[in-house]
Amino acid sequence: MNQPAALAATGVTKAYGRQEVLSGIDLAVAAGEVLAVLGPSGCGKSTLLRVLAGLERPDQGRVEAGGAAVTRPSPERPMVVQGSTLFPWLSLRDNLAWGPRALGDRKAGAIVDELLEATGLTGSADLLPRQLSGGMRQRAAIAQVLANGPPLLLLDEPFGALDAQTRLRMQEWLIGLLADRATATVLVTHDVEEALLLGHRLLRLSHRPARVVDEVRVDLAPPRGRATLTDPRFVALKASVLAQVLDA
Ligand SMILES: Nc1ncnc2c1ncn2[C@@H]1O[C@H](COP(=O)(O)OP(=O)(O)OP(=O)(O)O)[C@@H](O)[C@H]1O
Ligand SMILES: [Mg+2]
Repeated sequence: MNQPAALAATGVTKAYGRQEVLSGIDLAVAAGEVLAVLGPSGCGKSTLLRVLAGLERPDQGRVEAGGAAVTRPSPERPMVVQGSTLFPWLSLRDNLAWGPRALGDRKAGAIVDELLEATGLTGSADLLPRQLSGGMRQRAAIAQVLANGPPLLLLDEPFGALDAQTRLRMQEWLIGLLADRATATVLVTHDVEEALLLGHRLLRLSHRPARVVDEVRVDLAPPRGRATLTDPRFVALKASVLAQVLDA
């Protein structure tokens, strides 16, 4: 029998008052896969992510995680948004240890050390969040929710507020961080390049109410990173997706 998708949405429809925001969205994400969701400003991307997280209920349709209905939020499917915050009074190390400790892991040492290392922040472990740069804080916010090893990760334009160079470094960092994990990731972005650099598949949404316009498989050899940006296949794919976006 096939494994159930790590996350699946079927016929998800949602309105706020009379304004329909999501219209019959179907999607599925497998363990270890990054699904990039690309859509125009205001089309309903964050709403979709909140529905997938269980923070909001769809009017119609169904969301399942690992085969079980999603009806409420859970640390099993954390959502990280732009400018996500850490606990300001805790050191970086204690911020990362917070989740495992809350679930009864008194020490949480090994996973925190591994995440600090993977995040390049070992030397900053004893600093408070306000002593970190914006890029460091954003990496730490993603590392914090990964400390409990969630099967799903929901990212809402996590690098939107960063300058282009920091953003590329962060994208490379995230690719590396997710590469050896079984986490199923949904990455919402309005940036075509980001969607193609990080996504294994790209789901394109229409203007509001958001419908799935098409799905593109992004077949680019790992490891992906800055060199991918000049790979002729990446360049061609980007041009083709951009043309579709501009025609829409
Ligand atoms: N809680 C809410 N109550 C009422 N309307 C809402 C609510 N949340 C979102 N909306 C409306 O739903 C529509 C979609 O919003 P949403 O934030 O999901 O879009 P988005 O694609 O994430 O936008 P952006 O690209 O700006 O991030 C907008 O018209 C917004 O005003
Ligand atoms: Mg949004």
